[in-house]
Amino acid sequence: MKDRLEALRVEALAQLQEVADAGRLNDLRVHYLGKKGQLTEILRGMGGLSAEERPVIGQVANDVRAAIEAVLADKQAAFDRAETARRLAAETIDVTLPGRSVATGSIHPLTKVTQEIEDIFLGMGYTIAEGPEVETDYFNFEALNLPKDHPARDMQDSFYITDEILLRTHTSPVQIRAMKNADGATPLKVICPGRVYRRDDDDATHSFMFHQIEGLVVGPDIRMSDLKGTLLQFVQAMYGPQVQIRLRPSFFPFTEPSAEVDVTCTQCGGQGCRMCKHSGWIEILGCGMVHPKVLEHGGFDPEQVSGFAFGMGVERIALLKYDIDDIRHFYNNDLRFLGQFARM
Ligand code: DAH
Repeated sequence: MKDRLEALRVEALAQLQEVADAGRLNDLRVHYLGKKGQLTEILRGMGGLSAEERPVIGQVANDVRAAIEAVLADKQAAFDRAETARRLAAETIDVTLPGRSVATGSIHPLTKVTQEIEDIFLGMGYTIAEGPEVETDYFNFEALNLPKDHPARDMQDSFYITDEILLRTHTSPVQIRAMKNADGATPLKVICPGRVYRRDDDDATHSFMFHQIEGLVVGPDIRMSDLKGTLLQFVQAMYGPQVQIRLRPSFFPFTEPSAEVDVTCTQCGGQGCRMCKHSGWIEILGCGMVHPKVLEHGGFDPEQVSGFAFGMGVERIALLKYDIDDIRHFYNNDLRFLGQFARM
C-alpha cells in the first residue's frame, strides 16, 4: 500500500509539472484528491491493515496528500498571477493620451457686431424694431421723401419684384413703420437692424446683400447736438474712448440737414495712413435731422416735434473693428475665418 501511495505521489507530481492551464489543474485535483479520486481509492484498503501499520500508512498518505496539495497551490497561484497580469495589461488605460477635442461653434462676426451695437443703444434707452425685407415702394422710397421720379433713387439700385414691391434697399423704411406704430407718442427711440439688398456687383467692398442698422429719435426739441453726442457716445463705446468723430455736410432726401460721419482712423489713430488715404478719418455712417415730410408720413407734426436719424452698414463697422480687408469673408463661411472670432 505504501508503494502504491509513493507511486501515486510520483505520478501526480509528474503530471502536475506538465499542467498548462487552470482547467486542467482542477481536473487533476479531482482526479487525485477528490471524493472518488485516486488517493481515496487507495485509502479504502486501510480497513485491512493491522493496528501497527495503520498510523504508518496514514502518515505516508498525509505526506502524499500534502505534497500534491502544495504543488496544486503553487500552480494555482502561478495561474492566478498570470491571469491578473493578463487582465491588467488588457484593461490598461493610457491616461497620457490626449483627449478628443470637441468642435464648438462660434457666433458669426456680423451677428457679434450687431449684438454689440444693439447693446450700446439699448444702454442709451433705445428699443429694437424690425421690418420686412420685402418692402413696398411707399415705405422704402415714397414716405422717405423719394417720390417716383426722384433722381436720388438712382443712388440705390433696387431689386423690384413688382412695380410697387421690392427688396428693401436700406433699413430706413423701418423708421416710417416705427413712427406709425408709435402713433404720435414721444419720445421715440429705436434702432432697426436687418438685411438690405442692392443691385451691385460683388467685390471687396460691395455685396448684393448686406446689413444695416438704422437709428431714429423723435421728440420735442431734438437737436443736431443730440445727434452728435449720441454718435460720439456710440463710436467711443465701439472703438475706444480715444476715437473722435467729425460731421461733414451731405445729402439724403430723408434728412435736412444731412451729414456723413467720420471716425478717427482705426488703423493709424489719425496720423494718416493708406487706409484713411492719409486724411486720418474714415467714413462710417450717414445721418441728419429727420425731414419734416418724413415726420408727417410717420404721423408726427413737424411743428411740434423734431428728430434725428442715422444709418450704418454693419459690415463696414465690423471691417474696421477687426481689420478685415474683404467684405466677402463674411459670406463665404470659411471656418478658418469664422473660427477666429470664437474667443473675441
Ligand atoms: N439709408 C441710407 C443709406 O442706405 C443711410 C442713412 C443715411 C440712413 C442718413 C439715415 C440717415 O437714417 O439719416 O445709404
